Amino acid sequence: LERVSVPVPGRPYEVVVGAGVLDRIGELLPELPGAEVAFVVTDPAVADRVPALASGLEPRRLRAVPLPVPAGEEAKTLDVYRAVVQQLAAREAHRDDLVVALGGGAVGDLAGFAASTYMRGMPLAQVPTTLTGQVDAAIGGKTAVNLPEGKNLVGTFHQPRLVLADVETLATLPERHLRSGLAEVAKVALTLDPELLERLERDPVPVVARDPEALTWVVARCAAAKARVVAGDEREAGPRMVLNYGHTLGHAIERLEAYAGRTHGEAVAVGMEFAARLAVAHGLAAADLVGRTRRLLASLGLDPDGALPSVGAIEQALRLDKKFRGVVRFVLLAGVGRPVVVDDVPMTRVREVLLEMGAPP
Ligand SMILES: NC(=O)c1ccc[n+]([C@@H]2O[C@H](COP(=O)([O-])OP(=O)(O)OC[C@H]3O[C@@H](n4cnc5c(N)ncnc54)[C@H](O)[C@@H]3O)[C@@H](O)[C@H]2O)c1
Ligand SMILES: [Zn+2]
Repeated sequence: LERVSVPVPGRPYEVVVGAGVLDRIGELLPELPGAEVAFVVTDPAVADRVPALASGLEPRRLRAVPLPVPAGEEAKTLDVYRAVVQQLAAREAHRDDLVVALGGGAVGDLAGFAASTYMRGMPLAQVPTTLTGQVDAAIGGKTAVNLPEGKNLVGTFHQPRLVLADVETLATLPERHLRSGLAEVAKVALTLDPELLERLERDPVPVVARDPEALTWVVARCAAAKARVVAGDEREAGPRMVLNYGHTLGHAIERLEAYAGRTHGEAVAVGMEFAARLAVAHGLAAADLVGRTRRLLASLGLDPDGALPSVGAIEQALRLDKKFRGVVRFVLLAGVGRPVVVDDVPMTRVREVLLEMGAPP
């Protein structure tokens, strides 16, 4: 069992990571005065985990009420949000009751949004069951649903009371989703945690093979890194911005592929290879950053090569990014563990690197 504290101002909370910790939720939750019911917003892929959660909540005299929602991204709509808050109303939820998000980042974002808005805010526990959820989405308090006009356009900040990451739940995660999460792990290793990077370089096998002990350690390291950023300690590169490493191009690719091509992590892997090349081209990093990045990604089963959209389409997509302010701002590495935010990369250099990576003009 690993415990990581997220020292946000006001109400710090813990990320607890371990194998088979689901049914220990009762002892790990902080005090929740007045809570009687735990509404468990559940992805169908992990519905079989509800009984373990329910028995863990019993000693706290919290009755578990499952609220099933569609799997994955389908859950992040205003319609599903409405169904969830109407269920809360129909079952006479009160503001002291608990909302539990049991599922991947999608369920976490949806349940978090419902918990933060129903009666102006209910306590929330995140129980992420994907690697992406455990290392990234469940920590930090961002909630959101999508609009037809774009992803994550409606949302709030609502910090959970507890994040409970049971690495045993990852046993059933489809390989592609595991790899997608491993891209976020690589991101943390390259930008914030050289020790994690070295360990992955030494022996990536146990992690890729989902050894519970290896996963517990890796998830806890990533959680700790995200906790530091979220708490605002990592100001050098601008808080939180560093978490966007590889994401500027990654998001552009996802959008251009209409979210039906590469997974988020696969797109971010390409984005990290691009960022490494750009850092070298920009005179920021030594040339070996590219090879080191590629070797790490390959060892985690990620392929930074593959067909890219055209340079013109990518350039246009970069300009449409919601973070675009006349210049494209990149998180680049001066070296591993040394992220810097750069907004003086000329578009010609961006184009050159994309061409070098095989993007058609
Ligand atoms: N709030 C944040 O800070 C933050 C950060 C990163 C990502 N996100 C959001 O998270 C979402 C992506 O999260 P994700 O990658 O976890 O995907 P996801 O929640 O869509 O889950 C991926 C798939 O795995 C299935 N699944 C979940 N747990 C499983 C398990 N244990 N075994 C088998 N199948 C399982 C789901 O049904 C789904 O089909 C996106 O909507 C993204 O915007 C939010
Ligand atoms: Zn990401």
